[in-house]
Amino acid sequence: MNVLLIGGGGREHALAWKLAQSSLLDELYVAPGNPGTLRHGRAVDLDLNDHKSLRKFILEKQIRIVVVGPEGPLVDGFHDRIADDAELAGKVTVIGPRKQAARLEGSKEFAKEFMYRHNIPTAAFRAFDHTQLPDAIAHLEHIPAPFVIKADGLAQGKGVVITSDKREAAAVIKEMLGGKRHGDAGRRVVIEQYLDGIELSAFLVTDGQSFKMLPAAKDYKRIGDGDSGPNTGGMGAVSPVPFADKEFMQKVHDRIAAPTIRGLRMDDIAYQGFLFIGLMNVNGEPYVIEYNVRLGDPETQVVLPRLRSDLLDLCEGIATGTLSERHVDVDDRTAVTIVLASEGYPGEYAKGKPIVGVEMVTEALVFQAGTRLKGDRLETNGGRVLSITAFGKDLEQAIANAYRNAGLIAYEGKYCRSDIGHDLVRAHQQA
Ligand code: AMP
Ligand code: GLY
Repeated sequence: MNVLLIGGGGREHALAWKLAQSSLLDELYVAPGNPGTLRHGRAVDLDLNDHKSLRKFILEKQIRIVVVGPEGPLVDGFHDRIADDAELAGKVTVIGPRKQAARLEGSKEFAKEFMYRHNIPTAAFRAFDHTQLPDAIAHLEHIPAPFVIKADGLAQGKGVVITSDKREAAAVIKEMLGGKRHGDAGRRVVIEQYLDGIELSAFLVTDGQSFKMLPAAKDYKRIGDGDSGPNTGGMGAVSPVPFADKEFMQKVHDRIAAPTIRGLRMDDIAYQGFLFIGLMNVNGEPYVIEYNVRLGDPETQVVLPRLRSDLLDLCEGIATGTLSERHVDVDDRTAVTIVLASEGYPGEYAKGKPIVGVEMVTEALVFQAGTRLKGDRLETNGGRVLSITAFGKDLEQAIANAYRNAGLIAYEGKYCRSDIGHDLVRAHQQA
């Protein structure tokens, strides 16, 4: 079976690595991919908006499955363009939802209303559009601090402000509704109840009828140790999550995952692909913070290494609506990934710094993200450069292995958090 994978970050390197292990795979193409994915598939230069060329490529290369890594193309209707093309009908399946279902990630208000309708636990909320500025500000008088204010649309993970200062909250609302912050994505805002708890991410795959849970993970979003400094795409991840024990994950399954898939069916919203459920554990009870219609980055770099089952077999289950017959088998060991970034990220940073030591890493997986080749030389080309995933029989060992291997790699301006997983070790020691 020939597969096309869309994307070029660490998540896509992990997807390419995993897909390449499948006995069902003939050829893997990655668009655009990165130097890391070259080991597992051919890089192709495809413009996703040039539908004619895309169709030609899919037909010529006899692509059966297209796996979409990032949310952008999905929210943009990529799935619809392929599925509604008469020449491609019945020949190819996109792993990733249609535009309508991608609104679970693309519109916070849509996601909130979906959860309300289907009794899925989430923070209370009100939504306001740009004509309702006075109402939105007046609403702050009726709710307790801290205030959680979110741009409705996609804002690269930067559309959320949490503050206890009512004046700051009002100013943020004004800026968002005025289109001065996040442009059109902020012209509607959602004001939410603050949830006090610990965050984690749950993942599932679904063909729209049945679903299978994948391993859960915790990621570390802030740039600095101790969760300080600005938000990033994610600086590291751990799986499994010690505080998400069997009982908690059963609640996630019964109260959140199952009603979500049932709700999509009831609302007649077809969904196929991965679903990422951002959760808050509030005193042992799960609440949904957000849905993402894709896998997480860097969570994928710990989730897929723990997945023993064949990922392409699961994709085929989605393509043929037979996911219920497939198995998800998970490695019990703990996986930890450390993101190596460029100094300055998530702000300005330099590119083009030579990277050495990748071949020295033998006891961990190196997933590439912001890298490029200059001749034979690997250099930095982004904010998040590499992520190093290691296993351990327990969390402490996995952390030690990951940092030891991450230490073998060097480039000018290399930065990583030094405390990935430490909070979980401390919590475990106190328990
Ligand atoms: P989101 O873009 O919705 O994932 O929000 C970004 C981050 O803001 C989340 O990862 C949480 O850390 C935090 N957050 C979002 N919503 C809430 C909430 N209702 N209560 C507390 N923290 C929240
Ligand atoms: N690591 C968070 C995300 O992928 O959205």
